[in-house]
Amino acid sequence: MKVTRRGFIATTAIGGASLALDLKAQSKPGRAAALPSALPKKAVIISAANGYNYLDRGYAVLSSGGDTLDAVMQVITGPEDDPNDDSVGLGGLPNEDCVVELDACCMHGPTRMAGSVAGVRDIKNVSLLAKTVMEHTGHVMLVGEGAQKFGFLMGFPKENLLTERSRKTWQLWRETMSNDDWWGPGLASPKFKFPDTAGNVSEFYDERIERMEKLAEKIGIAPEFRMAAIERVLNPPSGTIHCSVVNEKGEMSGATTTSGLAWKLAGRAGDSPIIGAGSYTDQDVGSAGATGNGEENIKVCGAHTIVENMRRGMSPQEAGMDALKRIVRNYEGTPEKLQYVDMSYYILRKDGAYAGVCMWSGPPEHPRRFAVNDGTKRYENAVALYQGQSLGWPPMPGRKRLAPKQKK
Ligand code: GLY
Repeated sequence: MKVTRRGFIATTAIGGASLALDLKAQSKPGRAAALPSALPKKAVIISAANGYNYLDRGYAVLSSGGDTLDAVMQVITGPEDDPNDDSVGLGGLPNEDCVVELDACCMHGPTRMAGSVAGVRDIKNVSLLAKTVMEHTGHVMLVGEGAQKFGFLMGFPKENLLTERSRKTWQLWRETMSNDDWWGPGLASPKFKFPDTAGNVSEFYDERIERMEKLAEKIGIAPEFRMAAIERVLNPPSGTIHCSVVNEKGEMSGATTTSGLAWKLAGRAGDSPIIGAGSYTDQDVGSAGATGNGEENIKVCGAHTIVENMRRGMSPQEAGMDALKRIVRNYEGTPEKLQYVDMSYYILRKDGAYAGVCMWSGPPEHPRRFAVNDGTKRYENAVALYQGQSLGWPPMPGRKRLAPKQKK
């Protein structure tokens, strides 16, 4: 078909007119009935617990009239820069090849823009890199070498992200867990087998810890970090930080950054760089984000599900609980598998209402917490779907099984 200049202008003009009509239809009052109408009384920041020390930096940005995404960045670059936080950025726990690979994404409510990067090596502040993708490209997501190259071109310094402490912890994992890695079958597979728990397994478990302590000493892991390193080997963390912010004008932003699941396969991307899973912000409704097992969260699009639940009128807590129950539903046939799933959601509505929810409460002496600053900085306990503690992955004999006991 031949397209003339006149025909092209006529077609695109009609397209433009019908688009204007569609947008009008979408903003009919009936469709927006559940949207929060009140503005927050004060600005609110909510984050994973490891953001606590940096909440004041974020709040200072808001108090001086700064942008909400800049406030988020002030919070989450704190743990990214900290070599002792091994869940994100510098010092993050590496993949199975002993290489640190980072993921992050962000959304800016007022402009409704988004940016994301996955599998990035040698750049510490991947949250800022995701923001740079958002601000300086027409794309939303860059991965691997392309994301790294873009970062260097945009002036991000090349840094060695592997600290000696994280390398030694990797070595402890490699030398003790070489048969229990991330190669399948995964938890969701019908071929998944629970570990054999016959015999005196707790004795076996105790012996294993003892062996690991000796090995940790040989590797040169500092005595005060030895048990923590063993814990990371037996219970590979998927530690992450999410932060969501609303200012007094009701403007919102959110972002998530992580080194991902410890000892993962090279190239594995979790939920953190996935807009709608690890983080999601809708300027009309609210903002939410996640920490925990990325694979589970991707399958329920957790952050997006939560924001859409709030759009339909659920409270932040109800919205988060519903997302957790969708993960539970994915294991209806085998509820015992839920003991290996760890998930927390951080939820902020446009009017300033917020909630932190989690799959497992954690032990009574260390309940699962999140951090808040609404002018007063504090930790709050998350509301748990189940009482108890999740188990590490891969499954191993001797770990205590927990029977899912739902709170509500
Ligand atoms: N939630 C972080 C990850 O699974 O990578």
